[in-house]
Amino acid sequence: MDNLSFGRDEIAAMRRSYGEQGLTALPEDPFRAFESWLRQAHENPIIVEANAMVLSTLDVDSHITTRSVLLKDISQGGFTFYTNYSSRKAHAIEMNPQVSLLFPWYAMERQVSISGTAEKTSIQESHEYFSKRPWASQIGAWASHQSAPLASREELDQRYEGAAQKWPEGSTVPCPPHWGGYRVIPLQIEFWQGRHSRLHDRLRYERVGATADWEIGRYYP
Ligand SMILES: Cc1cc2nc3c(=O)[nH]c(=O)nc-3n(C[C@H](O)[C@H](O)[C@H](O)COP(=O)(O)O)c2cc1C
Repeated sequence: MDNLSFGRDEIAAMRRSYGEQGLTALPEDPFRAFESWLRQAHENPIIVEANAMVLSTLDVDSHITTRSVLLKDISQGGFTFYTNYSSRKAHAIEMNPQVSLLFPWYAMERQVSISGTAEKTSIQESHEYFSKRPWASQIGAWASHQSAPLASREELDQRYEGAAQKWPEGSTVPCPPHWGGYRVIPLQIEFWQGRHSRLHDRLRYERVGATADWEIGRYYP
């Protein structure tokens, strides 16, 4: 770890002070609150991929892994993303459906963190979404054994070419059997807004038992 380009204490000195926008009133329904923050992030020109979220899973060996995925729907009481059902994350979810999602909107001094249970979307829902994807992404889904070791970049390119020949642009590409969605049904949704002096606002919605009601609590930053 010698010869890093960062000077001594340079990383430690990276900090900025946060703004004055307080988090006082949020709607009773956390999905409404989330929708409003997502819209603001989406319309903010300096936020790239407002719908990108960090998904954490716990695998059978108790290893936590994280990666970004794209939020594609908010419906039926949950947050949906699409992926490969043979991937590392899918294996982890199969063993333990408890997951967390994080939306890090740093440019807005905000984050939303969600924990909940992942369940597969219906085949019909996955097929419907797959059919709306651009052709190249559809072909990519056939070409990739997501998370499996890959000998070379050429192998991936060849698999892509093979799939592209089988289903040329303009033809209907079927949804691969190993591809589909997960819907994360939240148990907790926490909204974080940066404030001055590190006195940030945190409001957390928690499900009350098995009911559809939510309790809202404020927590020390
Ligand atoms: C901004 C961004 C968005 C991504 N969106 C997705 C996605 O929606 N679905 C997906 O399977 N992978 C997506 N990926 C790739 C994943 O982060 C990850 O590399 C891949 O799913 C393999 O993860 P796994 O091996 O842990 O299963 C995205 C990556 C980035 C950086």
